[in-house]
Amino acid sequence: MRTEQWYKDKVFYQIWPRSFKDGNGDGMGDLYGVYEKLDYIKSLGCDGIWFSPLYPSPGVDCGYDISDYMDIAEEFGGMEAFKKVLDGAHARDMKVIMDLVVNHTSTEHEWFKKSRERIEPYTDYYIWRPAKPNGKLPNNWDSLFEGKAWQWDEVRQEYYMHLFAIEQADLNMDNPLVREEVKKVLRFWLDMGVDGFREDVITFISKKEGLPDDYIMPASKGFNYFNHGPHLHEYLEEFHRDVFSKYDCMTLAEAPMVTPKVALKYIDETNAPVLDMMIQFATQEADCMFTDFVHMPFNLRKLKKAYSDWQNGLEGKGWNMLYIENHDHPRMVSRYGSEKFREASAKMLAVSYMFLKGTPFVYQGQEIGMSNWYPSDPEMYEDVQTLWQYHNVGTKKSPEKRLERLWHGSRDSARTPVQWDSTENAGFSTMTPWFYVNDNYKEVNVAMQEQDADSVLNFYRKVIKLRKELSCVRHGNYTEYNKSSSKLYVYAREDEKQKILVVCSYSEAMEEFKAPAGFDLRKAELILNNYDGAATSVLKPYETRVYLWQK
Ligand code: NOJ
Repeated sequence: MRTEQWYKDKVFYQIWPRSFKDGNGDGMGDLYGVYEKLDYIKSLGCDGIWFSPLYPSPGVDCGYDISDYMDIAEEFGGMEAFKKVLDGAHARDMKVIMDLVVNHTSTEHEWFKKSRERIEPYTDYYIWRPAKPNGKLPNNWDSLFEGKAWQWDEVRQEYYMHLFAIEQADLNMDNPLVREEVKKVLRFWLDMGVDGFREDVITFISKKEGLPDDYIMPASKGFNYFNHGPHLHEYLEEFHRDVFSKYDCMTLAEAPMVTPKVALKYIDETNAPVLDMMIQFATQEADCMFTDFVHMPFNLRKLKKAYSDWQNGLEGKGWNMLYIENHDHPRMVSRYGSEKFREASAKMLAVSYMFLKGTPFVYQGQEIGMSNWYPSDPEMYEDVQTLWQYHNVGTKKSPEKRLERLWHGSRDSARTPVQWDSTENAGFSTMTPWFYVNDNYKEVNVAMQEQDADSVLNFYRKVIKLRKELSCVRHGNYTEYNKSSSKLYVYAREDEKQKILVVCSYSEAMEEFKAPAGFDLRKAELILNNYDGAATSVLKPYETRVYLWQK
């Protein structure tokens, strides 16, 4: 049973294990490396860790294709190393949440191998369909990674559904036996002491009955029929009732295209919530359409609207999950910030979301302002989605344009090894790393920033410390100002004790700034900024300021 909503006071750090830190010198990030860095994570002020998948996996989708839910991959150090990290985190008063990936399994999972042989009780564990009489696919749905959502299986002589890579077969969650398996997995980790789960594309687990053809969506066919499907709430309620409600744990659901209104169906604290938080995508769509591969000019007003819709939409009812980066999108400095003003913009981006209401997440490397990676050759990419995009979309364009599309769109940009120092391999590993290190590691790394009081790293420490000290950040209400500005994001947070005004410039130019009515700057304390010198009525490129009024 949960006694308090402890997740509301935490700041989480996301670890994408392959690229965090190699502790045993084989070129691959692992749990030995994580153990070495627990104090570092804690030193940021982070007191929770979300692990992207650590389970055994063939690695087609870097661990999101799981072949055994109840073990830890040998390449990451196995179960012994995991337990040491879990204990080490708990000893530091840090929570640990795992990735729960149950929309699909790897086709190497025992369940799938038995299902394709029709061995009971596994026959209906997946979504199998015969070919249509005319030889056509069972329906016209698209997968999000590789072409159509169906793959023919020679053994079973049927198609199985895969909404992601071909090797990621969708589970049939309508089968009660599958839901029992999920509950077993949950209990296994919770009994071990894990503090909760980030639930991978959990809004996809219930597909529309009859799997009809989709004539509504022009692209990504089927999306409307598998996202927020008919039994989603029922299944989440079942997991909550039978498992989560019995443990002191939290749940965070990944939810593509979700709106605050729809989110409240699941997370409304005043009305039997079945989840604690949802990961929205709206704040990731200010420079693209639906996917990072469809790149557009950055639009601050779109971003501000997304922030405000979520802050206002959940107020008094639900709790926000706050993030700017994760392993699925290119780096923010290169997107909404500026590589030319890397330090200033990395600091401004930290402020932009850290003073909002909710639980913030920091993605590995974000705290030093890591920027995008620009390979010279498309074949250097590793990610299954990126390679499919390269070989199948826009193939008539010039090689330069095709490469540029990947630079903007590929999540591999955020998957290069963390830059720990300026020695070989950026101090990530003593061996050649499994993936390319960003060329800028000699200028951008943790060791250098530790020595510099003004570094992005030390700025993050200040920001996190402040957000924990200020009661208005945890409890206060939210008001946005300068709404029509396409350069400035200005918001206030206020409770009975204090109020703050947060000012963020998303501009490379100097910008005029006038405090909104009712905010007398002469009576305020400037508690945070990213430039030296007096704060004037002009904001420098990517300048950010936080003013405080005590009541
Ligand atoms: C969302 C995860 O964050 C992403 O990395 C993964 O590829 C897909 N779900 C499929 O599991």
